[in-house]
Amino acid sequence: MKLDSLVGKTVLVTGAASGIGLETALAFARRGADLVVCDVDESGLAAAGKRIEELGSRAFTHRVDVSSEEEMRAFAVEVHGRVEAVDILMNNAGVAIGGPFLSTSLEDWNWILGINTMGVVHGCHHFVPRMVERGQGGHVINVSSAAGYSATSALAAYNATKFSVLGLSEALWEELRPHGIGVTAVCPGLIDTPITRNARLVGDMDKPERREEMVSTYQRRAYTPDRVAKNILKAVEKNRLVAPISPEAWALYYLKRFAPWLLRRISLAMAKRATQ
Ligand SMILES: NC(=O)c1ccc[n+]([C@@H]2O[C@H](COP(=O)([O-])OP(=O)(O)OC[C@H]3O[C@@H](n4cnc5c(N)ncnc54)[C@H](O)[C@@H]3O)[C@@H](O)[C@H]2O)c1
Repeated sequence: MKLDSLVGKTVLVTGAASGIGLETALAFARRGADLVVCDVDESGLAAAGKRIEELGSRAFTHRVDVSSEEEMRAFAVEVHGRVEAVDILMNNAGVAIGGPFLSTSLEDWNWILGINTMGVVHGCHHFVPRMVERGQGGHVINVSSAAGYSATSALAAYNATKFSVLGLSEALWEELRPHGIGVTAVCPGLIDTPITRNARLVGDMDKPERREEMVSTYQRRAYTPDRVAKNILKAVEKNRLVAPISPEAWALYYLKRFAPWLLRRISLAMAKRATQ
């Protein structure tokens, strides 16, 4: 999809109050698009709307919990009262759990599956059919992760949700191709955003010093969400199905394909370090 000028186009981004969602919404606004943005963080969302408008774009902000079937349905009714269909749908809202399966409660599972997996399903369910019906193409961006193709016991539940987003995106890519709608699964590596502060930590990882270590690792890595946003726009322009973002995400991608045994060893070593 050409992104030179998006004047007159509508881009919807979930989880746009912070991090990757916010920076990608701003990047689309700089190309002239109107933005529909949602989040559960109302003050962050209001600030995001203001920044979008300062760039000269229209911003429709709405407090929506992507895990709620009802809220997503009502959101879609509102949006489709304004536009026939969105041009670009970005299912980005997400949360993280650090820790192994044996320490993850069913409540934790319901929480993370509700947001990371069902949030993407709800977004696609409510917005893609209108894109198809309108018949003018478009693009779906689903935010998975490098953890969507490389798993570690330190991220059991998070891995399960991100693998599901990648799998759904691959299936959708095929299904939506005849309709001229592209699909990109975005797979970032370690990106310095508030997700590390807000992640739930379980089991041996549930210690303040573990969180500080994790936060400082991401800060030292210093790969910022605006760089992710730039790469997302490039991936959409190239209609790339899987878009690893950051050198470590590419390294894991190639290891998974060409040396899975080596990836397993690295992953075991990293999980051991994370729980020591
Ligand atoms: N930061 C990383 O290292 C990294 C790496 C790979 C993938 N990702 C993915 O990128 C996406 C964005 O994460 P981020 O790093 O920008 O984190 P972030 O915490 O900065 O942003 C996530 C946003 O989602 C919102 N959100 C959370 N639950 C929601 C819900 N139920 N409904 C609506 N909005 C909700 C949050 O309020 C927040 O504004 C996530 O899907 C995450 O899994 C992040």
